[in-house]
Amino acid sequence: MYQLLVSILLFHDAYAASILAISPSASFSHQVAFQPLWRELSLRGHQVTVMTTDPQKNDSLTNLTEIDMSYSYEILKKYDMVSVLSDDRTGLREKGKMVLRMSREVQDAQLSSDAVQKLLHGNMNFDLVIVEAQLPGMMAFAWRFKCPLIGIASMDAAMQFHDTMGNPCHPVITPDPNVRVEDYQHITFKERLISFFFALAYKLLIYNKTYREEHELLKKYFGEDLPPIWNIQRNMSMLFVNAHPLFSPMRPLNPNTIIVSGLHIGKPKPLPKELADFLDKAKQGFIYFSLGSNIRADIYNRTMNIDAILEAMAEVPYKVLWKLDMEFAKTPNNVKVVKWLPQQDVLRHPNIKLFITQGGMQSLQEAIINKVPILGIPMFGDQFNNVNMMVKRGCGIKLDRSLIDKQTFKKAVIEAIEEPRYRQKAQEMGEMFEDEPTLSLQRAVYWTEYVIKHKGAPHLTSNVPYMPFWMYYMLDVIVSALTAIVIVAAVLYLVLSRIISFILCKCFRNYLYKAKPD
Ligand SMILES: *[C@@H]1O[C@H](CO)[C@@H](O)[C@H](O)[C@H]1NC(C)=O
Ligand SMILES: *[C@@H]1O[C@H](CO)[C@@H](O)[C@H](O)[C@H]1NC(C)=O
Ligand SMILES: *[C@@H]1O[C@H](CO)[C@@H](O)[C@H](O)[C@H]1NC(C)=O
Ligand SMILES: *[C@@H]1O[C@H](CO)[C@@H](O)[C@H](O)[C@H]1NC(C)=O
Ligand SMILES: *[C@@H]1O[C@H](CO)[C@@H](O)[C@H](O)[C@H]1NC(C)=O
Repeated sequence: MYQLLVSILLFHDAYAASILAISPSASFSHQVAFQPLWRELSLRGHQVTVMTTDPQKNDSLTNLTEIDMSYSYEILKKYDMVSVLSDDRTGLREKGKMVLRMSREVQDAQLSSDAVQKLLHGNMNFDLVIVEAQLPGMMAFAWRFKCPLIGIASMDAAMQFHDTMGNPCHPVITPDPNVRVEDYQHITFKERLISFFFALAYKLLIYNKTYREEHELLKKYFGEDLPPIWNIQRNMSMLFVNAHPLFSPMRPLNPNTIIVSGLHIGKPKPLPKELADFLDKAKQGFIYFSLGSNIRADIYNRTMNIDAILEAMAEVPYKVLWKLDMEFAKTPNNVKVVKWLPQQDVLRHPNIKLFITQGGMQSLQEAIINKVPILGIPMFGDQFNNVNMMVKRGCGIKLDRSLIDKQTFKKAVIEAIEEPRYRQKAQEMGEMFEDEPTLSLQRAVYWTEYVIKHKGAPHLTSNVPYMPFWMYYMLDVIVSALTAIVIVAAVLYLVLSRIISFILCKCFRNYLYKAKPD
């Protein structure tokens, strides 16, 4: 017992705490991004309760209690979310509205579920609440349990969360991931214009509408005395973001914001036998093709020419491993279609030549850590800018899904594999991505325990979110300075013009008179 205590004091640096982690987004990639953190915290002796849509269901993790919210996926299906998001004919505004409506329905279902109601009205206590920084609603739990709050994002966090930490959100330097930018370093006038107005509209909408509405909705669950959500969010002690400068535009970050990129990258595990056989036999190399967990076969076929892709695949001199939830009537000999596979271990296989991906942040990081070049076919959201960044960095090629036919697809695949520069860049980037003094998981655990130990991190609070906008933009200072300059200039002008005309009159009078003809 003594030894245990010592080891906790020495190595854990925080007493065994009770942590509530809330990961409400019904998207596999959002969930796997944090699972290692929940696991690690529980293994370090903390009692971790996780509200999640994808429970790990690992009985050996005795300190991890999971509240299963997998029913949230049904609501996504009802809205047919992914096909709306990947439809280019729908405007950004409409998409945003739909995502908000759907997220609120999901949130309602989650908050009114028996397990969450029990948590809300029970007598459990927590020392820390960690909430996915996506929709702010769930942050109300930090107020309910009167404890510090940490936000965590599986990609770069949205503007309002950076605002909370006082990190600058300059629309030209770090445009919102939903604003498509071809090249961050040479952002065009049109992109800057769009980004500026997007940021303006987003801010007005978020701060003046979304937070207010959210507050009204949440009162039903948290009681009438719930303070404004913005005030709860502003109390956030720390923010963990997946925004590595190799993959996202550079942004100055305050010490309350920690980059935890590649948090989800796990230890190698052996591949299932059948898959291992197929890949081991691919002596010429193989291509791994997956557009992520959200893109189902019907969305593929609606958004791109899947038959042309299959024909092109049949003609490349490589094996192809295709993650797809359907079977073709006739699959070419070199192609293997599977519904599920351990992606990280496939990317680790020595025979891999190319990863054809939609460009989700997690997938790109898995590719780069394994030094695999990419062929990006972005589908929605941040994927366009993620892929653009990879193209800019030189480790891959982008393909516009609406332009795909057999020839373009085959040509792009062959080029990405046979031009050595793509693999070389992926190699260089991978080496840089790995080269860090601490692992992301270590950093996340360290700062989580830091917040527990010190009961928050008030000294890391930025005063930016407490400032009115005119003070931040120094409008009062600029206006006063300009006014002073104008007044001084006016006075100077008046005085000088008087003096000059006086001198002119006095000294040059004779001369002037003389100069006058009679
Ligand atoms: C659970 O937590 C206790 C301390 O609270 C610790 O001694 C134990 O090793 C943990 N067990 C597991 C499986 O993580
Ligand atoms: C369950 O967790 C333990 C401890 O981290 C790990 O060793 C084991 O591989 C996990 N099992 C599965 C099926 O993931
Ligand atoms: C915020 O919303 C309120 C009503 O919803 C409106 O009266 C006010 O003008 C809005 N303010 C801004 C800055 O948009
Ligand atoms: C913010 O944190 C402080 C200190 O932990 C606490 O007293 C206050 O009630 C919190 N405010 C909100 C709105 O949660
Ligand atoms: C894609 O859709 C077309 C018709 O819209 C159909 O003929 C074709 O078989 C579909 N392809 C696949 C692979 O499902």
